[in-house]
Amino acid sequence: MSTYRIPFNRSSLMGRELQYIAEAMLVGQIAGDQAFTKKCHALLERELGVAKALLTTSCTHALEMCALLLNVGPGDEVIVPSFTFVSTVNAFVLRGATPVFADVRPDTLNLDEARLESLITPRTRAIVVVHYAGVACEMDAILAIAARHGIPIVEDNAHGLGARYRGRTLGTLGALATLSFHETKNFTCGEGGALLINDARHTERAEIIREKGTNRSRFFRKQVDKYTWVDVGSSYLMSDVLAAFLYGQLEAWQTIQSRRRRVWETYDAALADWAAAHNVRRPIVPPGCEQSYHMYYLLLPSLDARSALIDHLRARGILSVFHYLPLHLSDMGRRYGGQPGDCPVTEDVTDRLLRLPFYNELNESDQSDVIAAIHAFEF
Ligand SMILES: Cc1ncc(COP(=O)(O)O)c(C=O)c1O
Repeated sequence: MSTYRIPFNRSSLMGRELQYIAEAMLVGQIAGDQAFTKKCHALLERELGVAKALLTTSCTHALEMCALLLNVGPGDEVIVPSFTFVSTVNAFVLRGATPVFADVRPDTLNLDEARLESLITPRTRAIVVVHYAGVACEMDAILAIAARHGIPIVEDNAHGLGARYRGRTLGTLGALATLSFHETKNFTCGEGGALLINDARHTERAEIIREKGTNRSRFFRKQVDKYTWVDVGSSYLMSDVLAAFLYGQLEAWQTIQSRRRRVWETYDAALADWAAAHNVRRPIVPPGCEQSYHMYYLLLPSLDARSALIDHLRARGILSVFHYLPLHLSDMGRRYGGQPGDCPVTEDVTDRLLRLPFYNELNESDQSDVIAAIHAFEF
């Protein structure tokens, strides 16, 4: 049990999750790619307008599949934001690639497209973008640069399921994209993810990599009469028990998103005056971006102010958390040559960003307590 009266995150049943788990168990087939996995694939493909969706055990594993699909290896460089979760980078480092850390824009905290081209070398094999907080990167500029150099884009869309950029759904813009269904995400099954494939040249090999390097998917479709080892791979399939849970969540799409939208808009309206008076920045959603209502964050004026606000909220039983330490300054990042000053915006915001409690069942009374506690914070 959380020791906090108002936790940072709490998962909840939003629809028929338990009924679907029972159905999966009654059928008795709960390995990967069974009935509920297929339902999730169809729902994601339909809702997002993506050619192919494959459930995976996590977003981390979907990113690892991207690295395998793009044949990234030693000597290759992959451009990644420093302001991201470790898996965005690790997936490529696992294949022996060298990460090249990009800074982010001060407004959206997304990869800074203005500095992207200067990071490209003849060895660049992929550009990975993260749509932070489910607000889109400046994709027109990024796609144009990538196209000019013939470099594939991977969208790490862990935060942005359902969000849009100029009318286009996030996850449909890069050659490949990934989703997360970790418990902190809008739609969850505890641990889970998905690979989205927009470049059809990757589809058949993705099925093979996900099935331990075998052509078992073709065998199940009766396209071959036995299956065998045909490529490298691993076991990236989600159990159908989790897919059943996830399907219950995905079916509750409208309910979940309208609740999260209410939470986000309540914070934003209630904190506007306080933020303006205290030099605190609220999230920026540029025109043309429809966000996913994944999180609500504040940028405090200093590290000291952030630490004091965390303590102030903790004393009132409220858990708030910071996000992403700059990867280029981590122990691993420094092994790849990361130095202070390489990504100044990342280095600045990492000390100042604070995420407020945000979950589907955050009720009005608890959210009012969070807001009142922030209003009462003196600094
Ligand atoms: C941007 C980003 N990418 C990848 C991940 C990893 O997701 P998962 O826990 O599903 O592996 C996270 C986790 O929160 C994330 O924030």
